[in-house]
Parts: sequence; structure tokens; C-alpha cells
Amino acid sequence: MSWFSRFQAAIDGVAGIGAGVIAAKGGVKARIAAVLTSPAGQRDAMAVLRFAKPRLHLKQNLIRCYEADGSLLLTRAADFHAVIERQADFEVVYGPRMRMLTGGRDFFLGMQDGADYRRDTDAMRSIVKADDLVPVLAMARAEAATALAGTSADLPPMLSARIPALMVQQYFGVQMETEQLIADATAMFHFLFSDLQADPKVTAAAMAAKDRVNAAIDASKSGAGPETLLGRAVRAGAAGNSAFDADGIRANIIGIVIGAIPTLSKASCLAVEELLRRPAALAKARTLAAAGDEAGVADHLWEALRFSPVNPILYRRAHTDTRIGETEVAAGTMVLAANLSAMFDEAVVPHPNRFIPGRPWGVYALWGEGLHLCWGDRINKAILPAMLTPLLAKPGLRQISAPDGEGTPFPRHYRLAWG
Ligand code: HEM
Repeated sequence: MSWFSRFQAAIDGVAGIGAGVIAAKGGVKARIAAVLTSPAGQRDAMAVLRFAKPRLHLKQNLIRCYEADGSLLLTRAADFHAVIERQADFEVVYGPRMRMLTGGRDFFLGMQDGADYRRDTDAMRSIVKADDLVPVLAMARAEAATALAGTSADLPPMLSARIPALMVQQYFGVQMETEQLIADATAMFHFLFSDLQADPKVTAAAMAAKDRVNAAIDASKSGAGPETLLGRAVRAGAAGNSAFDADGIRANIIGIVIGAIPTLSKASCLAVEELLRRPAALAKARTLAAAGDEAGVADHLWEALRFSPVNPILYRRAHTDTRIGETEVAAGTMVLAANLSAMFDEAVVPHPNRFIPGRPWGVYALWGEGLHLCWGDRINKAILPAMLTPLLAKPGLRQISAPDGEGTPFPRHYRLAWG
């Protein structure tokens, strides 16, 4: 990797930031904030850091909802992968908030590797069957066709959050009114992963949500059939599997409910938004979608999400005093491993700024990797193309208004039209 390519990317990054600041509205602070919170601005800033300061120490802990002393932002791909791989040195931090949602029991995303983590992940694997996704995908395709029967749609309530919520009801087995389920799963996800300012209002919303969802899980147990994860967990618990005693069922099922809805919905909105910014890629995706080629559409979705992923960083806390390469990392430091930057690192990704569908899967770090690789990995790869192919097939697809989270990081509305 030549010094020159990094240098050139950094110069382009500076130019991109400058252009973004000029184009943005408001005072200087507002303009800078607008650039740094946009995916393009983040990519530009990270290109500069990869060249000038790939390991950036900051005095503040940028993830205020979890305890830490200072932050270390890592932007090179090798550092990102090393931190996620060295999970004994760099621990997941979600445990305390996860336990607030379950009522005390840990959920495996909040655990370090060990007997409890293996017990729960093995148990969850044991209740999944190879052909489980067949009815889920049939439902997703049918629901998408119904949602898109007119000439416009509001993506989250009609499709991108609604279909994952139906999956939670029909496949996971949790019976709850659809809109409330979407709102509650999103409130809990916000509290766990995106409440960077530790806002008491976010906590209050999540606490109310977890009461409703835990009650719904308990109430759904007796009627949950063998086609549902909840039904299978109840039967495994009755047969003596300790991962599925009453607390274990609640913790394991609420964990996957939280993971499934806001993520798939936001990923759908971001991927469509990114494709709409790229008319040539959108036209190609439309041809593939019109031919029902979900695999070809999927390649376009993953590449779109590389430019605009749901989470641009993963965070971990240093367990002991350690090092990353030559850089010392004190115990307690919050390490921000930038997967967005890793996916654009010119050292490992050829032509990172070009939109090239069908890149090797190893380039993509869209939903974690290593020990805590997303439990929904297989679901994501199948359901996102199933939900979005009918939409992308629409001729003249256009945005009526930008994704709107109504003050939250999760789009509640994204109005599109076609024809
Ligand atoms: C595009 C949609 C999704 C995205 C972007 C996403 C993102 C992620 C990320 C980044 C992680 C790793 C977090 C870390 O290492 O700190 C993760 C883990 C996890 N996700 Fe997802 N996720 C998605 C869909 C889902 C779905 C559909 C489910 C449930 C069916 C789910 C359940 C989980 C669980 C349970 C874990 C923890 C895995 C473990 O600790 O072993 N996610 N996800």
C-alpha cells in the first residue's frame, strides 16, 4: 500500500469536507455537525484520519451510556479487525443495560466468551432449523407486494419495520400489536446501542418498552407452536435445557426481538437512500429486480450499505493495559473500531470510492464479525433482498421526503413514490 494512495484519499477527504461545509446550512458549528453526521462526511473525515492519525486518542468517553476513561478511534482496517478478534482484551460493554432490559439475566451479546456465552448461543442455535426461513421469506415477499400495490409508500410502517415485526410474531412467536412492537423494539435498541449522551428520556422509554415486551413474551409462551423459536425454547426448557428456564427464555427472546426490527428497517432505508443517490447503480438494480434476481439485487444492497452502514463503528472497552501495534491503550479506554472506515481502507479495498456490486463478502463489515457476529446474519442476507426487490423493481422510484426519525436515529417515515 503506497503512502501516496492514502495521501491522495486524505486530500480528497479534506476537499469533500470543505464542499460539504459550504453546501450545508446554518452557522459554522451546525454545518460541521451536518457534515460529520452524514455518511459522506464520515467517510471523508475517516480518509483524513487513516492518513494523518489512524489511532486517535480523545480525552472524553464518546459513548457516555457505558463507563470508560477516554476514547481511542481506530480507522485502519487492520486495527478494526484486530480489536474485534482480540475479544479477551477488548470487551463488549452492553451487559449493564442488557440486564436492565431482561430484569437481571445476561443476554449473550453482553457477555464475554465463556461457559455462559457458549451455553446460550448453543441453545439458541439448537432451536433454529435449516428451512426456517422458507415461510419467513414467502411472507416478506407477499407483504412487500401488498405494501407496494399503489404508487407510493412510507417504507418503515408499510414494509421495512412492519415485515420484521411480522417475522417476530410469526417465526419468533411473540404476540404483540405490530405498531407497539416496532416502537418498543426500537426504544430498547436505542437505549442499548445508540444512546451516546445517556439521555434519561431514552432510558425511561426503554424501561416502559421492556415491561411490555417481557410481558408479551410470558403471555405468548403457552400458545407458541413448534414452528416458532419461542415454542421450541419452551419445549427445550421443559426438557431441562437451563438456557431456557423462565428467565433464560425471556432474555434470549427479548435479545433477538431487539436486534431484529430497527436494524432491518434502518438498513432498508439507508440502502434505498444510497441507491437513489446513484442513478446508474439504481438503474442496474432495477433491471435485476424486475427480473426477480434477488441475488443480484443483494449485491447492490451490500455495496450501498458499505457506503452507508447502520452502525459506522463498533465499540469495545480495553480490559487491561494493552497495545494496538505500537500504541499503548490504557485499561478502561473505550475503543471505537470504525467498520465504515475499514470498508474504505485503500490498503485492502480496491477502488474503495467506486460503487462495485459483488465485491468479495470479506470486504463487508455490515453487522459485526468474530465472536459477536450478528445472530441475524443469515436472516439479513435473505430478508433484505426479499423485502426490497419488489420496491427496486418499480420504474421511476424516487424520494418524496428524506428518512425521518422524528428526533431519533431510527427512521419512522421514509416516503417514496414511483411510476
Ligand atoms: C441489517 C440488519 C442488522 C444489523 C445492521 C445488525 C447489526 C449487528 C451488529 C453490528 C452486531 C455486533 C455488535 C457488536 O459486536 O458489538 C450484531 C449482533 C447481534 N445481532 Fe444483529 N444486526 C441486524 C439484524 C439482526 C437480526 C435480524 C437479529 C435477530 C434475528 C439480530 C440479532 C443480533 C444478536 C442476537 C446479536 C449478538 C450476537 C452475539 O453476541 O453473538 N440482528 N448485529
